[in-house]
Amino acid sequence: MNKIPVIIDCDPGHDDAIALITALASDRLDVLGITAAAGNQTVDKTEKNARKILEICARTDIPVAKGRTAPLLQSLHVARDIHGESGMDGPVLPEPTFEPAKEPAEELIARLVEECETPVTLIITGTCTNIAVFLLAYPHLHRKIARISLMGGGAFLGNRTPLAEFNIWADPEAARIVMDSQIPLEVYGLDVTHKALIYQEEFELFRKEEGAIFQLVAGLLDFFSASYLNERKMNGGPIHDACAVMGVIYPELFTYRETHISVELESRESRGALTMDLRPKEKREKQANGKIALDVDRDKFLQLLLESCKILTAERRKKGYDS
Ligand code: RIB
Ligand code: CA
Repeated sequence: MNKIPVIIDCDPGHDDAIALITALASDRLDVLGITAAAGNQTVDKTEKNARKILEICARTDIPVAKGRTAPLLQSLHVARDIHGESGMDGPVLPEPTFEPAKEPAEELIARLVEECETPVTLIITGTCTNIAVFLLAYPHLHRKIARISLMGGGAFLGNRTPLAEFNIWADPEAARIVMDSQIPLEVYGLDVTHKALIYQEEFELFRKEEGAIFQLVAGLLDFFSASYLNERKMNGGPIHDACAVMGVIYPELFTYRETHISVELESRESRGALTMDLRPKEKREKQANGKIALDVDRDKFLQLLLESCKILTAERRKKGYDS
């Protein structure tokens, strides 16, 4: 089966890191490049975190480019309450041994898309700023984007406000540009990502295994879940971003509803909230521009995360790492 070419725009970020591990372990994906967004932390920090993850996964062949330093219009708000000062507090990762790409995110995306023979899937696990800039700067390349799979928003749930989720709330204008692009959308909001929860007692499934990748994920879960326990009284870590990757590899894991998805920009109360119409198809006024995931097979999701760590551990060993 031909691999799916993907570019991942992310803001590592504990769950972004687990999403990257899932993508790098999959033999169904060809990760062409990674671009770093300002979101969980400043783009300098998220870009370095992205390179650290590639370093530990022994994939320093994949280019990493730095994206915009701030949202399109509003000022930057980082999520240090959840991800800490570095953006990926908790586990200590080796310093990257390779430099970031010279070109900015939107230029790296344009180059990789132009060079790729088949249409590319864009996966967004942070703010939509970089992808919005790419879409605005390269309209002729839209036809070479197969779809956009993004973690963000929620049909009935917010986490930064009662109605708005962080990735969308942090740059709603950018999210609107992505939603209005007419490129097929696959949205993984909090309704499904809060079900992609790894419980505290399951962290041991990673910790008990030999190898840097398993220990990295256990460390990410420890810090990330502590934030969620303090901030949101949750028993475990919702692996938000891995949903946007898993959905590309294993869509059968998820239950979707087709709908027209957009972003509220005007209202003070609900700015950054996703708007959609989940009424029966015949009642809806607008043509669907994508689908939103509302349920996930959590046990299978967990098994696939464990499998991803096992695959990358074997690949590290093949490349001469001790574990
Ligand atoms: O609201 C969850 C999202 O915000 C995730 O992508 C997490 O990494 C943070 O960016
Ligand atoms: Ca993220």
